Amino acid sequence: MSVRQVLLLVCAVPLTAAIIAAFWAMRHGEIAPVEPPDPGSIDSGQVRLGKDLAGIGACEVCHTAPGGAPYAGGLALPTPFGVIFSTNITPDPELGIGRWSAEAFRRAMRQGIDRDGRHLYPAFPYDSFTRATDEDLDAIYAYLMTVDPVHAVVPDNDLEFPFNVRLLLAGWNLLFLRQGELAYDERQDEEWNRGAYLVEGLGHCGACHSPRNLLGAVKLNAAFAGGEAEEWYVPPLNADAVAPIPWDQLQLVNYLFDGWDEDHGIAAGPMTPVVNHLYDQSENDVFAMATYLESWQRPALSDDDKMSVVERAQELDWDDSPEYLPSNLPEEPQLLQGMEVFRDQCSSCHKSGGGQLPVSLALTSTMNAPDPRNVIHIIFDGIRAPRGVTQRSMPSFGASITDDDIVDLLTYMRWHFTDKPAWSEVAEHVSNKRSHW
Ligand code: HEC
Ligand code: HEC
Ligand code: HEC
Repeated sequence: MSVRQVLLLVCAVPLTAAIIAAFWAMRHGEIAPVEPPDPGSIDSGQVRLGKDLAGIGACEVCHTAPGGAPYAGGLALPTPFGVIFSTNITPDPELGIGRWSAEAFRRAMRQGIDRDGRHLYPAFPYDSFTRATDEDLDAIYAYLMTVDPVHAVVPDNDLEFPFNVRLLLAGWNLLFLRQGELAYDERQDEEWNRGAYLVEGLGHCGACHSPRNLLGAVKLNAAFAGGEAEEWYVPPLNADAVAPIPWDQLQLVNYLFDGWDEDHGIAAGPMTPVVNHLYDQSENDVFAMATYLESWQRPALSDDDKMSVVERAQELDWDDSPEYLPSNLPEEPQLLQGMEVFRDQCSSCHKSGGGQLPVSLALTSTMNAPDPRNVIHIIFDGIRAPRGVTQRSMPSFGASITDDDIVDLLTYMRWHFTDKPAWSEVAEHVSNKRSHW
């Protein structure tokens, strides 16, 4: 052993021991179990409020396995550290949270500590939920106590050492958890503050829309700069938004309520369940969220500038006549091949005409994003329309178009519909999608 190694050992061992001792000293106690409250005795107004708030928090989305009972948990959440399964949050006294008091529930939502005192993984976005008020958390608790109890066990997490040591999350919390409610911003009006409260808190929009650091924490200095979710590219919600037309409040309201806006297109993938829950919310709350998000956008275009962006996009739309040829014809063989695939498979719906037809592809974030994955998911899986625009579904093409043709198609679409640089690693992304399909 070199002197250097000995010195390192002499310092490192006590340091590690000290850290573990400190975390041990900071550990949290158990909160005593209670008898599950009688659902009939819970105030119905509070339950209604709690149901809406649970919708904004998309609790059901994460706490329901495919084909499983609502809130019974068991959904696998892949993370860079392994797979974490959501828990059973129905009021089942043994396997759910039926024996949790409101206090234990609030502690979990604020600090990520379960009733026994164990740390919860931040795959559960308590770093956002911590912003919620006591009143709102109590309403969600009241609502959850009225859902059907389900006696269901969830699978064990599949995490490697050291990520399976929950105590280490004390360190994560120390570094990254900023507990407590959002301060009211006096410079802004009531509506903006309400929107900030929902977006930053129960809505946990930044959990997907902000980038994360190596320890999986949302980067606070890059709020809404775009992120990743379930192999989808999550677009930024700040001034770097990728759509050619900057979002304004009304467009955001359309998108968040209905999942579709005529200047931006449709919500797909992991965003669909989010908008499907917002569809049930009060107009005031959705407007408030849009007001807050609008304040993150780059300035709106003038009416004339917006008009010319729309006109330019419409010029790029295809026509449905059989002999139609776009005015900008590519020369490269790959682009020509992609153009033929587009003609055969896509142009029957993606064409000019307005009305019930899809929005011009040139206007969408999916085509203008720096990452082709969302378009690849859409081609393979199609689109299941959000609840607000049920007629806007798209069929799946994963089985009917070959990977080579999909690569050519994507290359052509990017070239034709945008003025952005070609996507890179298109073939890798397509074969990756195929292997998981
Ligand atoms: C992004 C996915 C996700 C969302 C959204 C989500 N949860 Fe969870 N939640 C989890 C995961 C994963 C766990 C388990 C974490 C662990 O095992 O450490 C969890 C754990 C919990 C726990 C601890 C339960 C226990 O048995 O230890 C509670 C309580 C909880 N969630 C409530 C909620 C509520 C209420 C909402 C909505 C406001 C919500 N969750 C939304 C993923 C989510
Ligand atoms: C589970 C991850 C996830 C969560 C949580 C989430 N989003 Fe999204 N969001 C996405 C993805 C993925 C897309 C891209 C969808 C697509 O390409 O069709 C998206 C798209 C959007 C867009 C369109 C942006 C653009 O430029 O096209 C808006 C606006 C948006 N989300 C707002 C929100 C708000 C507000 C919340 C919180 C209430 C939220 N999102 C929560 C994943 C998420
Ligand atoms: C049967 C009609 C139909 C066909 C065929 C079709 N689509 Fe779609 N597509 C839709 C609808 C409807 C939407 C939802 C968007 C809308 O209504 O504005 C959509 C949306 C999209 C989007 C997302 C746009 C956005 O709003 O972000 C992409 C990308 C897309 N389609 C690509 C394709 C490609 C590539 C093909 C050919 C392989 C194709 N579509 C074939 C109907 C179709």
